[in-house]
Amino acid sequence: MNNPQLNKHGELQHLLTTEGLPVTIVREILDRAATFVDVSDGLEINNAPLLQGKSVFNVFFENSTRTRTTFEIAAKRLSADVVNLNIGASSTSKGETLMDTVDNLCAMHADMFVVRHGQSGAAHFIAKHVDPGIHVINAGDGRHAHPTQALLDMFTIRHFKKEFHNLRVAIVGDVLHSRVARSQISALTTLGVPEVRVIAPKTLLPTLVENLGVKVYHDMARGLRDVDVVLMLRLQNERMQGAALPSAGEYFKYYGLTEEKLARAKQDVIVMHPGPMNRGIEIDSSVADGPNSVILSQVTFGIAVRMAVMSMLAGVSK
Ligand code: CP
Repeated sequence: MNNPQLNKHGELQHLLTTEGLPVTIVREILDRAATFVDVSDGLEINNAPLLQGKSVFNVFFENSTRTRTTFEIAAKRLSADVVNLNIGASSTSKGETLMDTVDNLCAMHADMFVVRHGQSGAAHFIAKHVDPGIHVINAGDGRHAHPTQALLDMFTIRHFKKEFHNLRVAIVGDVLHSRVARSQISALTTLGVPEVRVIAPKTLLPTLVENLGVKVYHDMARGLRDVDVVLMLRLQNERMQGAALPSAGEYFKYYGLTEEKLARAKQDVIVMHPGPMNRGIEIDSSVADGPNSVILSQVTFGIAVRMAVMSMLAGVSK
């Protein structure tokens, strides 16, 4: 089947989703990211001038702290010229179409677009529209995909757990509205994780979620038993239609991660969250800031993983 992310040589042309991404490419991204991390120096991220003379345009139609900033840092570490388009002050607010905006940025000699958009499929749409020499990275589209988040999560898991083939991983929370969960499930499956669980109330799970190859739990005590990794999710209130939850307090009682609930997992479990976190709703501060939390390592590793993706795209055959 034709994969819109790969060129005719099977190289990464765009990064749009983790679904259908060959395991060789996923592993290459993780291995390349490792070369940018100096473990001996407190996880410092090293520079490498692999994007010298290239222009990276950060085009974010939705808010972001971690993704936008770490893409900017990553591009600068690779010596790219970085342009952050302020969408609120751009001509889209005067009625310009997405494609006209993209065409104008291409006319400014963009080499790479990093795109976040509220509509699922927006990054695919841009990737199909631009010339073959221009690369598109999906930085989150609607509830569809957030591939660099999932890849930095995989990097973090590998850093702390070394292997994937012996892991039990639980994804907890609002799977229904989460682009992160979809990308995590496909990445974990591609990397050979034998047991991926999702833990959520029925109202926050997609229908037929089992078809994604996950085990479904509605109860934290059972779902967290003996897991190696807990991936918490944010409640995507901005994507909820109607009342999917009785109240924030009720949600925390049943699905908020507390020390007591976490005690069901393995002793060396790692706790992750893509951010932004809602403390006291999704996760208790004692866990978010506790000894099992690797949440801030995820953010740091995000720089290295985004450097890896951008440098691979810049190096593909023309
Ligand atoms: N994880 C994530 O996408 O965070 P931001 O919305 O801050 O980019």
